Amino acid sequence: MTGGEERWLVTGALGCIGAWTVRALVKRGAPVTAFDLGSDTRRLDQIMTGDERASVNAVRGDITELAAIRAAIDDGGITHVVHLAALQVPFCRADPPRGALVNVLGTVNVFEAVKAATRAGRTMAPVVYTSSIAVYSSGDVDPVSGRLTADAVSHPVNHYGVYKAANEGNARVYWLDDGIPSVGLRPMTVFGVGRDQGMTSGPTKAIVAAVLGQRYTVPFGGPTLFQYAADAAELLVAAAQRGGAGATVVNMPGTVADGAQLVDAIDAAVPGARDLISFDPVDLPFPSEIDADGIEAFGAVPITPFAEGVRESVDIYRRLASAGRLDAASHGLEDG
Ligand SMILES: NC(=O)c1ccc[n+]([C@@H]2O[C@H](COP(=O)([O-])OP(=O)(O)OC[C@H]3O[C@@H](n4cnc5c(N)ncnc54)[C@H](O)[C@@H]3O)[C@@H](O)[C@H]2O)c1
Repeated sequence: MTGGEERWLVTGALGCIGAWTVRALVKRGAPVTAFDLGSDTRRLDQIMTGDERASVNAVRGDITELAAIRAAIDDGGITHVVHLAALQVPFCRADPPRGALVNVLGTVNVFEAVKAATRAGRTMAPVVYTSSIAVYSSGDVDPVSGRLTADAVSHPVNHYGVYKAANEGNARVYWLDDGIPSVGLRPMTVFGVGRDQGMTSGPTKAIVAAVLGQRYTVPFGGPTLFQYAADAAELLVAAAQRGGAGATVVNMPGTVADGAQLVDAIDAAVPGARDLISFDPVDLPFPSEIDADGIEAFGAVPITPFAEGVRESVDIYRRLASAGRLDAASHGLEDG
């Protein structure tokens, strides 16, 4: 399949990783259908120019409805699917039935729709979807090395992690039963412009607070594996282009940093920020030292140095702030 024949569908396209994925595809000149239940395009607007935004085919739809996702694939002549639509940890905790509906049934629907397209004779790239390191708990690390190995057994500690584990299992069965190939990537703590909600959104909110000159306390400070949103997007695209047969699942690589290193990085980009930004001395219930065996199948792995990702985010947020387009409230911060 040559680049010119690729037609992409991104579900959850109005979310943080979705917006960066749409941006990465538009910058390549690829046709993109941005599928999302929501209508708030602020994350796309934060990182794309008006012309880039105008080239995107926006489809409002619900992944819990199979007909909606099938129509998006058929109408868009889709060849590549990146499935990101989901409810994050706090939303699944608040409403487990809805979490199961969106995260598990929604993912099954995406596979069903790709299966239908394949049966209709279309050539489809492997389905790429985000699982999560939340399929694991801190106790799942190797007791000797302290690292999470690629073949670790998972014991999720929240519904969200269980739903993600179910998705990995369903992806495997779609390969076994129907020959639908897939790649699941497991991010840990994604940061960057647009990461304004979810359990691990505190570091990005801290960047926004620093730019706005506000105080903010990140609700955790133990080490975590950070992925810059732009890097996550590049990997998702590479996985769809280079993924092969089978139902592969790979931990997403990144940079380990703790609360003190985060504050250092923000202070380097926003001098004086260390007087505003603090963190609670609390560990996340997930591993941080994580093997990413198998990631090499998708080519050169983009890992923006942590301080550079923070600085880039600061630069974008500063531009938005000076244009009057950085809304504190949508980041869970005090208004102006
Ligand atoms: N952000 C992280 O650190 C992280 C870590 C691990 C895994 N992930 C996974 O990556 C994916 C994207 O994460 P994100 O940070 O961009 O999340 P996000 O919350 O910013 O975006 C999710 C998007 O999904 C959309 N959505 C929700 N329900 C929908 C439905 N029924 N139909 C269609 N769209 C719907 C929302 O409107 C939203 O735009 C999710 O699957 C998430 O679980 C994220």
